[in-house]
Amino acid sequence: MKRPSVVVEGDYQALSIRAAALIDAAVRARPEIVMALPTGTTPVATYSHLIRMHQETGTDWSRVTTFNLDEYVGLGADHPESYARFMELHLFHGINLAVERRHLPDGPVADPAAEAQRYESLIDTAGGIDLAVLGVGTNGHLGFNEPGDTLTAATHVTTLADETWQRNFGHLPSLVRSSGDPASRPFNRAYTMGIGTILQARRIILLATGAHKRGVLQAALNGPLTTRNPASLLQLHADVTLLVDQAAAPL
Ligand code: GLP
Repeated sequence: MKRPSVVVEGDYQALSIRAAALIDAAVRARPEIVMALPTGTTPVATYSHLIRMHQETGTDWSRVTTFNLDEYVGLGADHPESYARFMELHLFHGINLAVERRHLPDGPVADPAAEAQRYESLIDTAGGIDLAVLGVGTNGHLGFNEPGDTLTAATHVTTLADETWQRNFGHLPSLVRSSGDPASRPFNRAYTMGIGTILQARRIILLATGAHKRGVLQAALNGPLTTRNPASLLQLHADVTLLVDQAAAPL
């Protein structure tokens, strides 16, 4: 069985340069590549290096297709917390990726379940994902596939785990302080590619940085397969690279 390979860089900057180099090389090798892209704090510097490489070396993104892993239900590109806004701010503004080839689930729609199905069909129509670039939650979530008794294969609407919500909105302390009942919190529901959508990607690169990710990566790499740690299911995939800094490196 082919194990995930682990590439360790010294720190966050080195990891980001290495990640950008891998992604840039993949675009150059296959100009029509279909990619899944993450949000979160981890890929921010990778995205700025990709922009720099595009500007300095002319890497052509015009035929690339991207699908983001997730988006909050109800939030559109004009909302500061939306992932559509995040992607525009951190990557899309700086590369020549065609607007019609950038995909995120459409936050503010009347029927989120139908939107999730539409998104999954769009991925199928594009021929599936060639390269999925992933982050990982401290609880092992991939996209917003949160730990649980079961996981869902295809793109779907889900509810954020408490830990995820607290982390993702830690920059809005007054919101976090005033949040009572988890069920009535804002930004609590999200679209996510399913675990099957992710595992059907032909190649996967997972980026992780910092000591707070080490435990979950250690379990994902060396522990049993369990829906309680969605990242452990990456052991099922034949072409996974964990690109980590020294602090996050699993033993
Ligand atoms: C977020 C996103 C994930 C992301 C993860 C890690 O909630 N839904 O796609 O990979 O959590 O975030 P960070 O990179 O900030 O640690």
